[in-house]
Amino acid sequence: MDYEQGDPGPGAEGTGSGDGRGSDGGVAAADLVAADVADGPVPAHVACVMDGNGRWAARRGLPRTEGHAAGEAALLDAVEGALELGIPWITMYAFSTENWRRPPDEVRYLMGFNEGLLMRRRDELNDKGVRIRFAGRRDWRVPKRVLRRMDESIELTRDNRRCTLTMAFNYGGRAEIVDAVRALVAEGVRPEKVTEKAIRSHLYFPDQPDPDLVIRTSGEHRVSNFLLWQLAYSELVFDEVLWPDFRRGHLFAAVRDFQRRQRRYGGVT
Ligand code: FPP
Repeated sequence: MDYEQGDPGPGAEGTGSGDGRGSDGGVAAADLVAADVADGPVPAHVACVMDGNGRWAARRGLPRTEGHAAGEAALLDAVEGALELGIPWITMYAFSTENWRRPPDEVRYLMGFNEGLLMRRRDELNDKGVRIRFAGRRDWRVPKRVLRRMDESIELTRDNRRCTLTMAFNYGGRAEIVDAVRALVAEGVRPEKVTEKAIRSHLYFPDQPDPDLVIRTSGEHRVSNFLLWQLAYSELVFDEVLWPDFRRGHLFAAVRDFQRRQRRYGGVT
């Protein structure tokens, strides 16, 4: 397909990866369709840092919480895009172990928002064949009613296999590694048996492949404690778009970038 330099359109603030790679002077990212990337390899696991909700709201003179609310549509559209491409694993960073440092009102809002999101969306996700799981610590700070909705969503969707959506919630990459090491110590594993394989098998979801592609929106170039063990060889795509404006086209643009990269895993090609 031949692309013209496109107007990203109302509300679309990013036009593909912000790293300058993969640009063909082409179409606005939001306008890409699944067929545009159907010929190349599709990542088995895509993980997203949904960043920029607060800035999206601030630019509109709205409270930060309105940005989170607007991010829900972006999340669902990203999942739709993943389903269109046949991506079997997606992980979304919804709340980090460090996000408790945000103002108490925002934390309270985010707990209720995530609970509400599950109640509003779990049936449609279930109907689409999506299995919902949660990576993170179930500690005392997570309200009981949120844990209840999480458990209900896991139970409702547990037999789905079309795609697994993992919500990283009260998740920290360092905490996950600490938890894995604690489990090994609790099992009495001897030091010489502490191997990469042993640690990996004690991560929250050992059955899940490492992300092939990690997307962070809003122009920030950080991993912010996301999947630290798993993203050792992930391809990173940073997009300027603020999360509430993210649509499946941005996912397809990131996949197109991914398809142009050469993965070497420390070797040579
Ligand atoms: C990391 O940046 C980003 C996250 C942990 C994502 C947080 C996402 C939300 C609160 C909204 C979730 C939205 C939906 C639709 C579920 P950071 O800001 O924690 O880290 P930084 O300080 O390094 O930027």
